[in-house]
Amino acid sequence: MLGRKHKFRGATMPNFTAPMIPALALDYQKVNSRVMYIKERLDNAIRVEYLFATPGDQYQFIADTRYRTAHASSGLMHEPQQVGNLPSGESYIVPYEGEKEGDPSASTGIIPVQFGEEIVLYKIVNNRAVEIMSDGTTSEKERKLLEAEPAYGNVAELGFGVLDVFGVQPVGSILLDEKLGVHIAFGRSEHFGGIVSPASFNKKENVVHIDRVYIPACQKDIRIFSVTFVYEDGRRENIVANDKYLF
Ligand SMILES: [Fe+2]
Repeated sequence: MLGRKHKFRGATMPNFTAPMIPALALDYQKVNSRVMYIKERLDNAIRVEYLFATPGDQYQFIADTRYRTAHASSGLMHEPQQVGNLPSGESYIVPYEGEKEGDPSASTGIIPVQFGEEIVLYKIVNNRAVEIMSDGTTSEKERKLLEAEPAYGNVAELGFGVLDVFGVQPVGSILLDEKLGVHIAFGRSEHFGGIVSPASFNKKENVVHIDRVYIPACQKDIRIFSVTFVYEDGRRENIVANDKYLF
């Protein structure tokens, strides 16, 4: 916004650390073409189907992507007054959150998230985590948090980082690590075009947009078995198999 007002272009680098420097030296034209490959497909997909694999089980989550446009964050800031994050390299979309009268979100299933050794299972109904299906210390904590702040359970972002093929290594910071693979965020979404905003939370200090990144460095026991985009005409396209993009 300030870029337009004061006529400059620029890159923002929140929480940038020295280990991220190699990720600035990539061929961002190539990054851009990978980002656009996903964005064009996400724009047309009416549904994204995830199959997660854990040591004991598989879980399916189906995200409703009707009525939504995907975003491309490709690191190219060649246009005047354009401002974006660096390092960059992801396409993402906010799932449909059911704001249209009489047309609830069809997002449904289970999203597993690993905290330390524990895998927490979030049961998703109408695009919201409404129940914790697992047991353990973190599961109990998450159960209390969801009760206190239902907006925290909102599925806020389906993200697809594409820097995996450029040899970039995870550094333990979300800014870079989410660019390395599939991620899903919970909480506020209005800054990405959704409807869950800080006002949707009961307490100001609980407002979050929290990314869960499905790469081994972030969640060692949860693998992306597959991600499939489903289109209006019923066509299905496999985008990820066994943690790897198929393009
Ligand atoms: Fe993201």
